[in-house]
Amino acid sequence: QELQLNLEQIEKGGFEHFMLKEIHEQPDVIKDTFRGRLLSDKGIIRMAGVEDNLEKFTRAKRIVIVACGTSWHAGLVAEYMIEEFARIPVEVEYASEFRYRNPIINEDDVIIAISQSGETADTLAAIKLAKEKGAFVFGVCNVVGSSIARETHAGAYTHAGPEIGVASTKAFTTQITVLALIALRLAKEKGTLSHSEYLRNLVELELIPEKVKEALLADSEIIKIAEVYKDSNNCLYLGRGFNYPVALEGALKLKEISYIHAEGYPAAEMKHGPIALIDEQMPVIVIAPNQNHYDKVVSNIQEIKARSGKIIALVSKGDVQVRKLADHVIEMPQSTEALTSIIATIPLQLLSYHIAVMRECNVDQPRNLAKSVTVE
Ligand code: G6P
Repeated sequence: QELQLNLEQIEKGGFEHFMLKEIHEQPDVIKDTFRGRLLSDKGIIRMAGVEDNLEKFTRAKRIVIVACGTSWHAGLVAEYMIEEFARIPVEVEYASEFRYRNPIINEDDVIIAISQSGETADTLAAIKLAKEKGAFVFGVCNVVGSSIARETHAGAYTHAGPEIGVASTKAFTTQITVLALIALRLAKEKGTLSHSEYLRNLVELELIPEKVKEALLADSEIIKIAEVYKDSNNCLYLGRGFNYPVALEGALKLKEISYIHAEGYPAAEMKHGPIALIDEQMPVIVIAPNQNHYDKVVSNIQEIKARSGKIIALVSKGDVQVRKLADHVIEMPQSTEALTSIIATIPLQLLSYHIAVMRECNVDQPRNLAKSVTVE
């Protein structure tokens, strides 16, 4: 048994939990995911699965993304990216709903199935259904040779390496990386992005690993914030645009491992319900980078403050305006609006992790959850 324990310690690479190790692996695995695929100096994105099926993608009347859990959140980020960059309409569906609601699928639809494990029963069933109806199905999986990887017509792997912690971390950010590559490749083919915008995104994508490394440095600040809010019963996460799915993912992470009730919302939806929950007991985590929606997010923060909510804001380095209003700020490096979704994910993972550890929860194996859900 002692041998077994030591082996596990070695596998954790000096980290207390697999989840923490996997959070810290992100700069490397994101790089692994675009290595050989992204040649920013030449302005080239090269992915065999996309290249071989380029026409199917560019001719598609729409793309339907099917997934579950965290992978579904990556799908939502992809919806924003593909629509913004490549101007192809995208729908994102929970695989479990899609498969049972007699969905309308046409032969010129492209289905993208996203799955870390490649074994999720509902996602696999959704793929089989789409194939029966004649659609082209593309997989984004992490586990090589998994059922979904085999069942799809083509695909692109994430190179996150084995993810042991039940709460998904590095799988999510590498999924966004692959999906960003696809969105940009399609944009280039369709000519829907100016060449300079296209190149800027390529260069920024290449810088993401360094920026994720920098975002990880906020750890000690995040520990202090976790200390303050670890006994909360509820928590709200808000974001706009590309960061709305990040808010959903932040809330999911907290629920999964700390058992605190948390909800993610698009910031402007707050006034249609969740605002009723806000009082001095309620921590609200707001993703507020200095980008497109900045002023709108600032006014959302003012609305929370007027109701005495506690504000934890994720801001761009050097931010001044939000700092004046928030109870706590976590700084993160800037990127393009789309790619900030990867960076903003990091502090939220760390916050959930530290709160869960402080609450003495089983971080790597939360109650009632499974890493891979092979039954419906
Ligand atoms: C389970 C896991 C989640 C994961 C979801 C989808 O619920 O606990 O972390 O996001 O399944 O899994 P997949 O392997 O298809 O991405």
